[in-house]
Amino acid sequence: MREFDVLIIGAGGAGLMCAFQAGKRGRKVALLDHSDKAGAKILISGGGRCNFTNLGAGPGNYVSQNPHFCKSALSRFTPADFIQLVKDHRIPYHEKKLGQLFCDRSAKDIVEMLLSECEKAKVKIFLKCACEKVGRSSPSPSPGEGRGEDERQILKPPPTLPSPVRGGGFLIKTNQGEFSTHSLVVATGGLSIPKVGATDFGYRLARQFGLQVVETAPALDGFRFSGADLKHFGDLTGVSCDAQVSCGGASFRENILLTHAGLSGPAALQASLYWHPKEKVEVNFLPDFEPAALEKWLNQRKGSKSGVKTLLSGILPKRLAERLCEMNLPGHATLAQLSSRKIKDFCAQLQSFTFVPQDTIGYGKAEVTRGGVDTNELSSKTMESKKVPGLYFIGEVVDVTGQLGGYNFQWAWSSAYAAAQAV
Ligand code: FDA
Repeated sequence: MREFDVLIIGAGGAGLMCAFQAGKRGRKVALLDHSDKAGAKILISGGGRCNFTNLGAGPGNYVSQNPHFCKSALSRFTPADFIQLVKDHRIPYHEKKLGQLFCDRSAKDIVEMLLSECEKAKVKIFLKCACEKVGRSSPSPSPGEGRGEDERQILKPPPTLPSPVRGGGFLIKTNQGEFSTHSLVVATGGLSIPKVGATDFGYRLARQFGLQVVETAPALDGFRFSGADLKHFGDLTGVSCDAQVSCGGASFRENILLTHAGLSGPAALQASLYWHPKEKVEVNFLPDFEPAALEKWLNQRKGSKSGVKTLLSGILPKRLAERLCEMNLPGHATLAQLSSRKIKDFCAQLQSFTFVPQDTIGYGKAEVTRGGVDTNELSSKTMESKKVPGLYFIGEVVDVTGQLGGYNFQWAWSSAYAAAQAV
């Protein structure tokens, strides 16, 4: 049996940050991951250059059942704190747009930085180390725990939950033997991209200890068109333009990209974080025009001999302009042939086209998982479970999900730092 003050499950961004910050406080820390490398998701993030934070990161950039929960952690470890670390390691970086900071060279720089901090703080890292079971180590095991049952025990809460007042530590059974610890930090991330090690272990562990988990869904993945919309747009794969996409009370103005399956591009990815099944999504294909201004612009061109398709191709990608005309106007119409009413309706179609997605694209492409361990269960100052002292949840496994643009890593760093000060 190996004993540590702190044991962290998951060597992603949150786990690595928590490990060295706790190590710096003199804690004896172990970091376990079932993958063969630490920081696998960091390496594939930001197109290989890791958008490691956002200069403007604040509570408004996150979705959670409790929008206030993230405030404390974000204010105690800020983007400036992470940037300082990056500077200390002489990692070159740049702002790409909208406050998004990326490595100049490669995401590897960030992983190497975190690993070197872990080494300095004497963190023991165990890779290819799969956690099989977690129980309380003392003073008395909880019902159904520590008796060698198979892993399915973890799938559903035991009939009597581990008592919050029972105290004691945790016993972690892995394929590399048993570990015991007083502080167990769960940093197992979300469900997206299973091929880089994502599992539902953190959610199952939360449930095992009687903690609520907010329903999870893939997010920042864009929309899958239903059959009718796919018929309209399915052959426009690769067409992109500036647009405004709105749903669930949120609106994003950036590029959209039509794909063989639906709508992607940053504005659609952002909107997918706010979408729930059966809700409508609205697209403004011409966000530069005030509604009345677009109508005026078209009406002013009524004398033109050009067809509407040609006119519209001047302000939208040609194939999209043609398709929107085909969907909404009689073939080869000129503006002169259209009534004022028809022009008004057409403008509405261009500026508030609505569709109900079949779904979002799914975990195979999602950048994050929305939902997770219910923030009502955790202290916002320390990330510790209110019911189970000594048990902490950090990073994406918690019901705090950031928008696209470096916000999810900032949450990983901030929540990890908060826990590291308490373990
Ligand atoms: P993360 O998923 O990083 O780590 C969890 C770790 O736990 C993994 O190493 C996994 O192997 C391990 N694990 C899981 N189950 C286990 C078990 N049972 N036993 C042991 N180990 C286990 N965000 C951002 O801010 N900027 C960006 O540029 C990007 N880009 C990006 C691209 C792509 C393709 C994706 C999929 C995601 C992003 N993100 C992003 C999101 C960001 O990567 C994500 O939010 C953080 O990595 C979450 O960090 P965590 O440490 O919480 O989980």
